[in-house]
Amino acid sequence: MQSPKRYLITAALPYANGLKHIGHLAGAYLPADIYVRYLRSQKRDVVFVCGSDEHGTAIPIQAMKENTTPQAIIDKYHGIMKSNFEDLGISFDVYDRTSSPLHHETSQEFFTRLNDAGELETKETEQYFDEAANTFLADRYIKGTCPNCGFTGAYGDQCEKCGTTLSPDELINPVSTLSGQPPIKKKTTHWYLPLDRHEEFLRQWIIGEHSQDWRANVVGQCKSWIDGGLQARAVTRDLDWGIKVPLESARGKVLYVWFDAPIGYISATKQWGLNTGKDWRPYWEDKDTKLVHFIGKDNIVFHCIIFPIMLKLHGNILPDNVPSNEFLNLEGDKMSTSRNWKLDMQDYLDDFVKKENGGPQMVDALRYYLTQIAPETKDSEFTWKGFQDAVNNELVAIFGNFVNRAFVLMHKLTAGKVPPLHGDRTDDKDQAMIADIQLAKNKIETLLEGYKFREAQFEVIDLARKGNRYMQEKEPWIKAKKLGDGAETDEEQRSAQQEIDNTLHICLQLCANLAIFIHPFLPNTAKKMMYLMKVVDKMLDWDNAGKMKLLSVGYSLRAPELLFRKIEDMEIQEQIDKLKNNSVPAAGSLPETIAEVEKPATTPVKQEIVFDDFAKIDLRVGTIISAEKVEKADKLLKLSIDLGFETRTIVSGIALHFKPEEVIGRQVVVVVNLAPRKMRGIESNGMILMAEDNQGKLHFVQPENMVNAGAGVS
Ligand code: 2FM
Ligand code: ZN
Repeated sequence: MQSPKRYLITAALPYANGLKHIGHLAGAYLPADIYVRYLRSQKRDVVFVCGSDEHGTAIPIQAMKENTTPQAIIDKYHGIMKSNFEDLGISFDVYDRTSSPLHHETSQEFFTRLNDAGELETKETEQYFDEAANTFLADRYIKGTCPNCGFTGAYGDQCEKCGTTLSPDELINPVSTLSGQPPIKKKTTHWYLPLDRHEEFLRQWIIGEHSQDWRANVVGQCKSWIDGGLQARAVTRDLDWGIKVPLESARGKVLYVWFDAPIGYISATKQWGLNTGKDWRPYWEDKDTKLVHFIGKDNIVFHCIIFPIMLKLHGNILPDNVPSNEFLNLEGDKMSTSRNWKLDMQDYLDDFVKKENGGPQMVDALRYYLTQIAPETKDSEFTWKGFQDAVNNELVAIFGNFVNRAFVLMHKLTAGKVPPLHGDRTDDKDQAMIADIQLAKNKIETLLEGYKFREAQFEVIDLARKGNRYMQEKEPWIKAKKLGDGAETDEEQRSAQQEIDNTLHICLQLCANLAIFIHPFLPNTAKKMMYLMKVVDKMLDWDNAGKMKLLSVGYSLRAPELLFRKIEDMEIQEQIDKLKNNSVPAAGSLPETIAEVEKPATTPVKQEIVFDDFAKIDLRVGTIISAEKVEKADKLLKLSIDLGFETRTIVSGIALHFKPEEVIGRQVVVVVNLAPRKMRGIESNGMILMAEDNQGKLHFVQPENMVNAGAGVS
């Protein structure tokens, strides 16, 4: 297939409301960077854009938390994020910000064009209004009791305790987080993008054209959105932080953050054009541009449904692919900012890179592990032990070891110079190694073009592994020993030297190839290898991959230097301790408003009931006989519970605390006469009892000894 004329690669604009963690890095920025570096090494015309997402309620909320202004918040976090990305080798062509005047103008023009063309609708609705603060309340500014689990700190858009998506109207006893007062309802008009008008286009474009080349999780999520019935989405908000709606009649209103943020990709490209003097337009207007959005799975609907409709209406090109990653968990739990269960990019940089034995190699160590565990098709998990194993057993023991041995032997056996290849003396092993190098190019290329970064990196390491095996089988050091013994005839000596030459020649050409292959993943390592080989950047051109004449015969190379250092047990233990000691109770139980801080931490005792009320609850002991995760619901497990008299399906919100395999065989206490309830399309017939400690951790309530399934509890 012919390559497109140019590429525009985007990585999701991170909110400038806090430090970003390695889950963000692994989700969008690192895979995008690998892809872009690969494209650049192919000499393709590529622009890689990103920037800070500086609007939305997240910003003023953070300002309240830090007791400062929204402007101070975005300035602070924009600066940190920009430098974190640079320090981790994420090679954006431009890292912009949505507070820039250029972006405000671009977004307003976008809105105006759609509105003037009659592509937006207005609707009057009633929304919550805080009279004391004289402002409408965004969903996040309203708190109340969750109708689902009774948690008193649920937000107007979601209960962070049970995970239920809510609308402010569903909250019991809503209060404004601004004043702590109950809000009133007030009429307001907003502009909507009627998604339903574009259903046919979306079906044809996503399901018709892209069901094969987009990731299954992306197509699946889009399909369920479309099948669920598309509705009009409000693109304006009553808020004073954001981009003003460019209409007289919309005073006091701003564009919804999800309307302006993706337009930020276009503004960033314009900014790149200004910085470089190049024309940005073809990147968004010429059909021969390949537009690729790298995102995390929580952004799928915006990038695959809403933004494409906006792009189509505005006359822009559509994305060719939207590689979206699932989530990265950390040490057995979901990463969470509010619980401080995370590893921030900044912390990794401080603890590993900006240290005496750190430096660029530690940047590559993280990039390596994050790609090895990339959550490309399902959620995956970062563990410190896994990090140590990946670095010590693969980077050090396979890749680094191979390069080091090749250099050491060259200095010992071939005077520090690239020896010649004696073509007539090559054997099957030499030929097989040469063939493997040549084959690797195609394999890695195909995987990278297909956004399979994890497998692509595996192939690079596998090639180094083959190099080690080849060197081990050829044993040039044994041949050298024979040479030294002087016991051989001249002819035998010559042939031994030629074999040594051949082995080292092939190993050194393999080193050069490994530098090319590893470069998109571990740019610092490639750079160091170039230094050791005394070659220039040009050698890293992808066109050179698979070639066997990258290093000239007789060329002298530098003395070996280790590419990676080992990670010690102590370093890992320190990180595990730090994580555990710094984590805080579950988000749902964290006080978030001033009013809440003043509340007692313990849950108040519920209203008194009489014995008959209690006696109505039928509690039985059951045994969990199977358990599985519920698709697209991070918190839910679907359990089959043997109750003696029957087996029930119960959906339980314990998936963040227990893996399915951990709960099978456990005895639990079940409320068996609770009315059935549908959760994520699955009928749940009962509820299991759990105890929650003050860290927010769940524990099973279970009989002290095994009892027969179905035994009553009273
Ligand atoms: O989820 C987020 O972090 C959003 N700030 C992503 C925006 S991506 C794009 F649309 F700008
Ligand atoms: Zn709840």
